[in-house]
Order: sequence, then structure tokens, then C-alpha cells
Amino acid sequence: MGFRAAAKTGKIDFLAMVAHVAAIVALVVAGVSARAQTADQGWLRYSGGHPHAAIPTSVRALSSDLKEQSAVRELERGISGLTGAKANADAANGETVVGTLSEVRKAFPAIAAPAHLGPHGFWLKRTVWHGSPLVIVAGANEHGALFGAFGLLRRIAINEDLTHLNAIESPALPIRWVDEWDNANGTVERGYGGRSIFFENGHVRDDLSAVGEYARLLASVGINGCNVNNVNGAAPFLTPDMLKGLARIADAMRPWGVRLAISVDIASPQKVGGLKTFDPLDPEVKAWWAAKVAEIYALIPDFMGVTVKADSEGQAGPASYGRSPADAANLLAGALEPYAGVVLYRAFVYNNHLDYKDLRADRARAAYDIFHPLDGKLLPNVIVQIKEGPIDFQAQEPVSPLFAGLRKTNAAMELQITQEYLGQQRHLVYIAPMWKQVLDFDLRAEGRSTPVKAIVSGKAFDRPLGGMVGVSDVGQDWLGSPMALANLYAFGRLAWNPDLTAEQIAAEWTRQTISTDPEVVATVDKMLMQSWPAYLHYTGPLGTQTLTDITGSHFGPNIEASEGNGWGQWHRDDAKGIGMDRTVATGTGFAGQYPPAVAKMYESLATTPDDLLLFFHHVPYTYKLHSGKTVIQYFYDSHYDGAAEAARLGEEWATLKGKIDPQLFDDVQGRLEYQAAHAVVWRDAIVQYFLKQSGIPDARGRAGHYPGRLEAEDAELSGYSVIDVKPWEDASGGKAVACQGATSSQGDRMAAAPQTSDGASASGASLSCSAQFAYSGPAGHFDIAIQYFDLQGGVAHFTFNVNGRAVASWAADATLPSRRPNGDNSTRFTARGIDLKPGDQLRVEGTPDGNDPAALDYIEIHPD
Ligand code: GCU
Repeated sequence: MGFRAAAKTGKIDFLAMVAHVAAIVALVVAGVSARAQTADQGWLRYSGGHPHAAIPTSVRALSSDLKEQSAVRELERGISGLTGAKANADAANGETVVGTLSEVRKAFPAIAAPAHLGPHGFWLKRTVWHGSPLVIVAGANEHGALFGAFGLLRRIAINEDLTHLNAIESPALPIRWVDEWDNANGTVERGYGGRSIFFENGHVRDDLSAVGEYARLLASVGINGCNVNNVNGAAPFLTPDMLKGLARIADAMRPWGVRLAISVDIASPQKVGGLKTFDPLDPEVKAWWAAKVAEIYALIPDFMGVTVKADSEGQAGPASYGRSPADAANLLAGALEPYAGVVLYRAFVYNNHLDYKDLRADRARAAYDIFHPLDGKLLPNVIVQIKEGPIDFQAQEPVSPLFAGLRKTNAAMELQITQEYLGQQRHLVYIAPMWKQVLDFDLRAEGRSTPVKAIVSGKAFDRPLGGMVGVSDVGQDWLGSPMALANLYAFGRLAWNPDLTAEQIAAEWTRQTISTDPEVVATVDKMLMQSWPAYLHYTGPLGTQTLTDITGSHFGPNIEASEGNGWGQWHRDDAKGIGMDRTVATGTGFAGQYPPAVAKMYESLATTPDDLLLFFHHVPYTYKLHSGKTVIQYFYDSHYDGAAEAARLGEEWATLKGKIDPQLFDDVQGRLEYQAAHAVVWRDAIVQYFLKQSGIPDARGRAGHYPGRLEAEDAELSGYSVIDVKPWEDASGGKAVACQGATSSQGDRMAAAPQTSDGASASGASLSCSAQFAYSGPAGHFDIAIQYFDLQGGVAHFTFNVNGRAVASWAADATLPSRRPNGDNSTRFTARGIDLKPGDQLRVEGTPDGNDPAALDYIEIHPD
């Protein structure tokens, strides 16, 4: 739910459509009221089919500890769900016990237990005790025991052979947090799964049952901290009332060992405390923080710490007083130290008013330039939280050089689970392969092997702390798409064990969530693994970042949005070439921030890998890649390939019909259809833009030629007027038609009421415009795609007629960004199996509604 599939297909008669919509509305309403938000909607389904798990169903904790009790409840629920056996039904068949290693040693002195378990680790053992089977779930501490319980359930769920179970695990990274960018009013910044599960109307919600379920999901993959509020605008979260509410959130998560953290505004002493200053070196400010932190710990004794975004994108910071991030971080660290709390200080600090004309200016340099000089100046409970790439969660970036730039400072890697720049959950993009590239990337610091995963675990530079932080942004519909939960799952698994492969994690998730049928697992995993490369191919390849609207939605294509402004997400394309020169020799010098071996690789065109070429170098469109292709031809090819790969995802999914839950099947199928169509929008935008910019034709003749396509602006229009779409590349040929009184070229008068033929106003009876196309091809059977713009602020309706007979009707009711027609909301409806002969008249009728002028881009006719 939450997302209404925007791609539609079919040959639907209008009345049938109305009935269909009414039925869906009824279902949705019933579903919303009946359906509680539970972890079962994630991967904790515990569905049957594992009868031979060999795990005793009688479960007992060795102490009354809260986490051990959670572990027992979870094991009872999980074992009975997975095996079909009733919990506690057959104590005679042995037992499963949960406890700490020392509790286990005491209870079963004759059993040889491991001498030592890593912090929060566990030992799972199947053995025999007094002639009966015994399964031991032993933790280094109670928390480890809870992780062990989930570890055991996962093994059952993925059908591991447990006859000789004897496994030891412990998390590789100490800090394993999710961050939520929730606002007190209940919205979630960059959240695509509905409203906040934590806050509403400026307060913590009364009903926090979803928070408990979320903590359960998080614990099941080893996550130990959850920061619940947005890094922006955090001051209100330190008021006494809010802190009481936050304590209730901590209570809801505590049974699952997930500890509360919050984002704080460094200006809080002034904004909340009423002091005249927030200068980090001011004694009054220091005292204020000490008192505030004491107030927090009085309410939340296991409070984990704070996250800080300062001097960044409008957030206040120490720079206001000429102080450094170290001054601010140490101020908070000092206040938290008596309680063993930590400070996650974000390295996402940069100037967003850079001068585009300055060829040396470079946002990518900022984190290293600012934080490298502070190495060694930060207190031991400060962790510098570094985004995986130097820019901002793009579809692809090099690894941040700052990971190697801090040797005497704890570091954590920040990544996004929410798909802000990766299709916002409307596109299937499994991100684990990208995260793996980052984690495995060897920065060669000090001339030795120092992969990022060894740095953020603390091992590479012998640091006590480190970790991974995933911006998750769940809402009341979790991540807003069932397949996107694979990313939350993968994040937790990688933070626990960064050596797992993306394929292994995909297979685990699929088995727990969709099916253990090997054919299904193989298909879903293949789709997951193909999805990120496909997204890269149809958006911004070769290191150009995402090529999306970076000043607005971050969703659809908008190539020039990155250029000419102070935000510094530049790719510097012009008529001759493209790319940012970040070399030391002739560019911004960013390449020189890496340790020598890596710096050398990126400095030279010859050794820079193709997939990051344009991040490091400015080259002519005719530059030949290692593959032998020119840059421009690669652009054409990769975008056509990417759109085809997106279409293939849907074809692969279609093979699962009848093999998986039908509701899930339909839901995902609708989304994949939408994705395939939106990939075409992306493809066409990038291809036509660079065809025009470079003037170099596509060697394979595709760019600029669209077989079967008939432009709306060339049709016989009645009521519709031709508009310029902005950016131009988001519409086929740069133009579309809109049903409205008048529209400026900015498209900003979309609300103008259409007129009836007799000049009456638009209120009341529906008014429509039409675009008529004469078909001149051969007779046959066709699929006809109708490309229109589905704007926010109204539900326009469309009808498609052939020779005056309505063959399909649909509503533009998807929830997509933007109130103007552009690539954010360019959407496709496909009428399938239509018979056509030469001379047939095809007519699209659009009925505007509110802000939505039923704008139409083209129709495209293909043999079915
Ligand atoms: C991105 C994102 C913002 C967010 C920022 C951050 O720029 O678009 O919404 O505030 O990252 O990480 O702080």
C-alpha cells in the first residue's frame, strides 16, 4: 500500500474499471483498518514447511532478563511457525535453552562451552543432555543470547541442516544503527513508506506498537541502535515533554536490545535553553549540555548517544563562533562520557554556495578538507560518520577518501537504505552490491591492505569504535514497497558481517520472505542482483552520479539541475565533452586525497575504471573507454540496455505467477511495470539530451528515432494546447499537450480551468480535451503505450478510443513528485491487444482535475 502503481495496462471498459477501482478502495480501506503493522510483513514470517528442523520446541530462558525473555518468546513463535509443531508441547523431546555463556556453563557443567565469545556474540549448539536433545543458544551477554535466538531461527527458515549445529558468531562492527529522519509533525524526510511510526502532531505517538515491531525486525538482523529523529531541525527534541515521549520510545525498543539515539541541534542551548550563545567553548553552554544529558539519562538509562549535523545545509554549527567540528563534537562527548554515550558527528559538511565557474571548486573535497586536520583531536567516544561517497548517496560514487584520512579517530560509514536517489522505492534497486563494493574497496592506507570494512570495524587502525549507520526512514507502510525491505535486511546483515556476499544475503532474505522453492529463490535473487546495475545503466553511468533533479525531487531525470548552481554535484557537460577534472595535475585535486596507490589510479585516465571515469576526468564525448567504445556511444548503449534490463525484471517476475503469494505477486508486478516505463523516460531524456549536446549520432541509429511513436503535439488537437516541458529532455521532442486555458512555458499555470465549448467553467460536468492520431501502418494486433504526465494536486482521467469506440479508461492517480509535467511524473498506460488497420483513428481524451491538466506526451504503437 502507500504506493499506487502508476503503470497500467489492459483493455478495460470504463464501467468495469469503476467497479474495479471501487473494489480496490474497499479492500484498501478494510486492509488499513484491519492490518496492524507487524514484523511479519518484513522477513519474520515464520511460515511453515520446515518440519525436520530438529529443534526442540520446549524453550526456556536461564534467567529472567528482559532480552532472554524476548528471545524465548521469539523462539516459541518462530519454531512453531516454521515447523508446525506446537511450542512447549513435547518437553520429553528435549529442550532449547537461552542464556549467557556463564549461565549455560552453570546449568550444563558437563558440556564443553567455548572459552570466549566476542562482544554481543553467540554460540549455537545442538547436543544431547541426559539422553535428550538439547539446543543451546548462548550469548556473550543477554543481548548476544537474543541475537543467537534470531540466528537460530534464520538457520531454520533458510533450511540449513542443523543436525550437527555448532556455530559461533559475533558482530564485526560495534555501532550498527539505523537513522530515521522523522520530524515531530509526523512527516519523514526522504521517507517513502508513509508517515512516522514515532511522532505525530509535534509529539511522540500514543500507540507505539509499530515501534516494538520495528525493533524486533532490527534485532533480528543484529542492529543495536536507532536514532529516531531527523538530522535537520532537531532542537525541539530536547524539550522536557519530548524527552518524556522519547523515553516511551526507548521502552518500546528495549525488549529487543535496540537502544535509542537522537539527533541534536548544536544550537539547542540557545534555541531550547534560552542561553545567549551556543559557542561550544562557553562554560555556560557546557553546563547546559551536562544538565541536559543528565536529564536524558534520568529518563532513559540506556540512551545510546547523539548524531549531529552541523554547519551543513543550513544547520547551525560551531563555525558561527569560529570553532571547529572537534570543539562541537568534544563538547557533546564530554557530556555523554560519564554515561558511556557516544557522539556520531557527521562529516557531511560542505559549502553549498560554491562557484560553478571556479574549476578548482569541488564539493567532493569538503569532508576530507575539514575533518582530516582534526584527526587525533576528537575524544574517544566521538565517531565521525562518513557518507560512503564524497557527494551524497548517488547511484554510484567512489568511496570517500576520508575513511583513510582518519587514523586516530573512530569512523562509521553512513549509507541510505531509503532509496532517495535510487528510485524512491518505486524502482526495484537492491543496494547490497553497491554497499559491498564500498566495504570491500581497499584504500591501501599506509601502503597495506585497508578495506573500508576493516576501517569502520575499527580493526585497520586499532580503534575501539566504528560502525555502519543506515538511513532507513521507515513509515507506517515500512519502506513503502515489499521488495525494498531486502535493503533493510541487507544493511543489518552487512553491519553484522561485512564479509557476506550480496548474493548470500539476497538468498537468505528471499527464503525467509517469499519462498524456499529453489526456482523462486533463483529468480528473485537474479532480479535483485540485476537491479542496481540496471538502474545505473538507465540513469547516470560512468560516474556522472544520478543525473536527476538534484534541487527538487531527486527522482526523475533532469540533467542540468546539477549544473550552474552552488550545490557542487556537477558533471560539467558541454558541447565537446563531459566530466569533472578532479586530478591533482589539472583539476580540483580531489584524487590526491586518497592514499598514494589509489590516488595514482584515479589520477591517470588510463587506470581510472570506466565506471568512475567521469567522476575524475573531463573527456571529449569521443574519448574511448577501456572497452573500446566512445563515451557517447556508451551513453546510448547503456541507456537502451538499462531500459531493456528494467523490462526484463518484470518478465522474470512474471514467471513466478502461481508460485508465490498472489497479493505480493500482483503488487510487485504493478511496480515493475511502472519501473520499466519510467526507465524508458530516463533513457529517452538522457539520450536525446546528449544527442543534442554532442551532435554525435548513435551508431546504432536509435537515439532520436522512436519507431511507432506519434507525438501528441503533432496530433489533431481539440482543446489541448502545446506546451514546452521543463526540462525539455523529459518530454519526447521537448513538448507535450495540456488541457487547460493557458499555460506559460514554465508550466506554472496548470491549475487554469479548462473551458467547455460554450465557455462555461470547469466545475461540475467533466470537460475534456482530445488528441487524435491517424494510424497509417499495416493491419495487425498491437500494444499501444500512452505516455502522459500524472501531476500532483488532481486526478485527471483518460479514455483511449479507436474509431470512436472506447477501449480503455484510467485515472492519473499515482502518487508521484511534482505539480508540473516532467520526468518525475511522466507515466505510461499500455492498452494491450488492440486490432488496427490503416486509416484507423486513435483518440486520447483527457479530463483535467485540479492541478492536473491531463497532459499527454505521445502514443507508441508496437506489435503485441
Ligand atoms: C541529502 C538529503 C537531505 C538530507 C541530507 C543529509 O542531501 O537530500 O534530505 O538532509 O542528505 O544527509 O543531511
